[in-house]
Amino acid sequence: MTKSTLLITGGAGFIGSHVVRLFVNKYPEYRIVNLDALTYAGNLENLRDVEYAPNYTFEKGDITDTPFLQTLFEKYRFDGVIHLAAESHVDRSISNPESFVETNVLGTVKLLNAARNLWKNDREGKRFYQVSTDEVYGSLGEEGYFTEETRYDPRSPYSASKAASDHFVRAYFHTYNLPVVLSNCSNNYGPNHFPEKLIPLIINNIREGKPLPVYGDGKYTRDWLWVKDHASAIDAIFHKGRTGETYNIGGNNEWKNIDLVEKLCDIMDELLGKPPGASRQLITFVKDRPGHDRRYAIDATKIKTELGWEPSIRAEEGFRETAKWYLENEAWLQHVVSGEYQRFYEQQYR
Ligand code: NAD
Ligand code: DAU
Repeated sequence: MTKSTLLITGGAGFIGSHVVRLFVNKYPEYRIVNLDALTYAGNLENLRDVEYAPNYTFEKGDITDTPFLQTLFEKYRFDGVIHLAAESHVDRSISNPESFVETNVLGTVKLLNAARNLWKNDREGKRFYQVSTDEVYGSLGEEGYFTEETRYDPRSPYSASKAASDHFVRAYFHTYNLPVVLSNCSNNYGPNHFPEKLIPLIINNIREGKPLPVYGDGKYTRDWLWVKDHASAIDAIFHKGRTGETYNIGGNNEWKNIDLVEKLCDIMDELLGKPPGASRQLITFVKDRPGHDRRYAIDATKIKTELGWEPSIRAEEGFRETAKWYLENEAWLQHVVSGEYQRFYEQQYR
C-alpha cells in the first residue's frame, strides 16, 4: 500500500536526480512524483535507471504555473514536498537576474500556496521541505563558519533570490502554520553536475585540452560536499528534522579554487595517462566574477548532533570518482554541452 505521496521539484537536475533516486530505491512504499520544467539544466537522462520504477512518476511542468500546480496537487494530494527546482548558477544570475526572481521567489511562493491550500484542513504528517544554499549567509573572511544563527547577507542575485524564498517559507510557517523544514547546504559535486559549474567545467575542459578559467586570484574558498551525501542529509532532515527548523549541511572540506583545480589536473593526468603536470599548463586566470564571495564554510554541528548525519567520503576519493564518472559518461556530457551550453560558454568566457 502507498504510505506517502511525495512531490520532488527539480528532480531532473543535478542534486534533485540523486534525491529522486535515493527516495525511489529506499522507499518502495512511497509514490515519488518528480516535477521538472526541463530547462537547460534538467535532463531526464540523469534518471534512466529509475524511470520505469513502479513508485516513480515524472510530470513536466513549471512551478510558476499556478493552474498547473492546482491540478497537480488535486491529482496527487501530496503528503510532502521536497523543493529543489531553481535557477542555480550564480554567473547566469548576474547576466539575467529576473529569471531568478521568477523561478526561485515566485515559483516557491506558488508552491507554498498550493501546499497551504491542499493541507488547510489537515496538516498532520505533512511537510514542505525547502532545499537552500549556504550562499544566503554572504561571505566569510579567513576565519569562522556559517551556523544556523548567522544573519542572512546575500550578495548575488542568485543568493538574494534563494534568501527571499527562504524568508517566504519561514513566513508561511509563522503566519499559516505550514509545516516546513529548511536546509542550507555548501557546494555539491559528483556525477550529473552540469558543466557550467567549476568542477565539471574543469574536468570537461581538461578532457578537451581547453583553457581552465580561474576567476580572479583563485584564492576564493568553497566547502565541497559529495552530492550523494547531500541526498542522504535531505532524507534525514525530511524524516527526522524538527518542524520549523533549519539545518546547515557541509562537507567539512574547504578548498581554495586554485588548489582544487590543480588537484583535478593531477587526477585527470593520472586517469588519462598524461605526464604529471601536463593539465596544469592549461590553467588560465581570467576576469573575476562581480561581487564574488570570498569564502563559504559550514558549521554542521546541529545536523550531526540532532540527526546523526555526517559526510561519508573523503575529498580525494570523491574528486577521483567524479572525474572517472565524466570520462565514462561521454555521451551524457556530449548531450548536455550542445546548443544552449555553447552559447552560454562563448558569452561567459569570450
Ligand atoms: P540544477 O540547476 O542542476 O537543477 C535545477 C532543476 O530545476 C533543473 O532540473 C531544472 O529543469 C529545474 N527547474 C528550473 N526552473 C524550474 C521551474 N520554473 N519549474 C520546474 N522546474 C524547474 O540545480 P542543482 O545544483 O541541482 O540545485 C538544486 C537545488 O539545490 C537548488 O534549489 C539550489 O539552490 C540548491 N543548492 C544547490 C547547491 C549546489 O552546489 N549545486 C548547493 C546548495 C543548495
Ligand atoms: O555554495 C552553494 C552554491 O554552490 C549553490 O547554491 C549554487 O547553486 C552552486 O552553483 C554553487 O555556487 P558557486 O558560485 O560557489 O559555484 P561555481 O561552481 O559556479 O563556482 C565555484 C567557485 O569557482 C567560485 O568561487 C567561482 C569559481 N569559478 C567558477 C567557474 C564557473 C572559477 O574560478 N571559474 C569558473 O569558470
